Amino acid sequence: MKNTVSTLLKQKQSGDKITMLTAYDYTTAKIIDQCGVNAILIGDSLGMVMLGYENTLPVTMEDMIHHTAAVSRGAENAFAVADMPFMSYQISVQEAVINAGRLVKEGGANAVKLEGGAEVCEQIRAIVNASIPVVAHLGLTPQSVNVFGGFKVQGKSLDNARKLIDDALKIQEAGACAVVLEGIPAKLADIITKKLFIPTIGIGAGKGCDGQVLVYQDMLGLTTGHTPKFVKRFADVGSVMRQGIADYINETKEGSFPADEHTYAIEDDVINELMR
Ligand code: KIV
Ligand code: NA
Repeated sequence: MKNTVSTLLKQKQSGDKITMLTAYDYTTAKIIDQCGVNAILIGDSLGMVMLGYENTLPVTMEDMIHHTAAVSRGAENAFAVADMPFMSYQISVQEAVINAGRLVKEGGANAVKLEGGAEVCEQIRAIVNASIPVVAHLGLTPQSVNVFGGFKVQGKSLDNARKLIDDALKIQEAGACAVVLEGIPAKLADIITKKLFIPTIGIGAGKGCDGQVLVYQDMLGLTTGHTPKFVKRFADVGSVMRQGIADYINETKEGSFPADEHTYAIEDDVINELMR
């Protein structure tokens, strides 16, 4: 069954936790979809995990459409949410609607996600008016890395926490269908989750949220180097890949691959004739 804005809302109401994972390509989207994950996020995190950038800022609309289209073809039942990249919605409400529309028309997304609170409510309202569901994103919003001075937990001070609660109420009022809460204290995420009727989807925001989201490379152990505190490694797929690749190299070099079962035969008569 296809997950939709209304099934996600029902999950909040019944206390059935929403699961969301990122995907950036068809093959991965299909695996995640077949596992029964409720929503797939084509995150602008693709700038880092797929394209090797330092942060998400260089990601373009073309990048997002390219990956969103691939994922959408694999997301049969999962609700497909595409991130609006940096500078695709900040400049004007009109540009925001045009770009949201491209992610749906050209990318096949079911919804778009954008970062920010009060300052993007006009954009949220206009995109929703164009019949495109919007997921908001509050807290440690990575597109603001240069303002935060690094990837730092948000909402710890009274003022900052109050601002986040206020932003959450405002984006809900503007028509957002859900909100991602990233990198904020669990107890603050609890308060926001209780105040909102729309689902909260947490990443580094504790178990009180209505759902969870993770970058699949992080949770499957494919990323190397520093991983944030909130990442749990549910599997070590990186090791499995390394072992498989090492075996391929060894067997190719020693000549045991390809074996007969990987090889096409031809009648001896044909070969004999060729060799005459
Ligand atoms: O880009 C992304 O993957 C995200 C999630 C971390 C929420 O925005
Ligand atoms: Na993102």
